[in-house]
Amino acid sequence: MKIPNEKLIQKDPFIDIIGQQEEKDQIKSALLADRHIILVGPPGIGKTTLAKNVAKLLDPDYITDPLTKEKSKDKVSGEQRFIRIQGSPDLTAEDLIGDIDPIKALKFGPLSLEAFTPGKIFKANNGVLFFDEVNRCSEKLQNALLQVLEEGIVTIGSYTIDIPSDFIFIGTMNPDDTSTEPLSDVFLDRFDLIYMEYPDTLDNEKEITRSKSKTICNCKDDFLFMMVKFVRDLRENEKLQKKPSVRATIGLYERSQANAIVAGRDNVTFQDVQKAVISVLSHRIELKPSVKFLQKPEELIKYEFDMFSDSFSSLKEEGDLP
Ligand SMILES: Nc1ncnc2c1ncn2[C@@H]1O[C@H](COP(=O)(O)OP(=O)(O)OP(=O)(O)O)[C@@H](O)[C@H]1O
Ligand SMILES: [Mg+2]
Repeated sequence: MKIPNEKLIQKDPFIDIIGQQEEKDQIKSALLADRHIILVGPPGIGKTTLAKNVAKLLDPDYITDPLTKEKSKDKVSGEQRFIRIQGSPDLTAEDLIGDIDPIKALKFGPLSLEAFTPGKIFKANNGVLFFDEVNRCSEKLQNALLQVLEEGIVTIGSYTIDIPSDFIFIGTMNPDDTSTEPLSDVFLDRFDLIYMEYPDTLDNEKEITRSKSKTICNCKDDFLFMMVKFVRDLRENEKLQKKPSVRATIGLYERSQANAIVAGRDNVTFQDVQKAVISVLSHRIELKPSVKFLQKPEELIKYEFDMFSDSFSSLKEEGDLP
């Protein structure tokens, strides 16, 4: 499966992603070269959004039933041909590829197609297979996946099944996730890794936050600046081992607006932001072991926000102070 070259080489094919120019160029190049891709980066930085954007670039096309080989009546958009699989240690090769139903095998014969229940990977044919957190999968599953990607053939027990596997593979992986097993060298050797990071500039993060959040009431640009700056400063805080993502910024922006409505106003004030920070941010961070036993995350957020907001005294005074 390929994205038409003329769509890829247009100036910005990935319009759903703000900033990340270097990463976008990498994706373009990997797609042009027909590579399997793994997006590497922390949570909430636009990996899923980017992969969906890739699917949107596919031309509408027919889909084929994996078993009957029947074509769909109408063409299906690229967006609808985006199939997501969540990687986990419990995911089995059978979940991914399919399984033989023993009762049907008895009825129709052991090698009959009727006895086979296709797994999720079949649905990705002619589209995008998005494999989230691929590094959470067992080595057995990684091997099954490799076979599909390389040969379009898979073996379940004593069966060898031809799988049409013409799809764009995009996996993700969070390098800081401690619950994962490292991917085997054999596996990694088949992919190109593209590293993504938190939004490069404060302005980009402001734009992401404005464009991807709910608008609940008015919020002056100064307050949005303050929220984005606070979250970005936290990412630089050396006491943190897990940093707040862009979802945290979006959450803070939405909750501050909601707090204004709760207080009977239709514009955000300093107090609305102050009231939102702990609820939105404290569970999204994790402190380094050396700090963990001395301070709770909510204490750190409160302390840091108090310190930080000292430099926003004019905004503080604008609100209706208690
Ligand atoms: N660079 C960006 N451009 C546009 N939106 C972004 C960007 N970074 C983050 N977002 C927004 O942040 C939210 C989270 O993005 P997304 O779900 O794509 O992240 P993710 O990397 O897949 O996260 P996870 O690892 O938790 O699955 C979305 O609302 C998305 O629109
Ligand atoms: Mg995601």
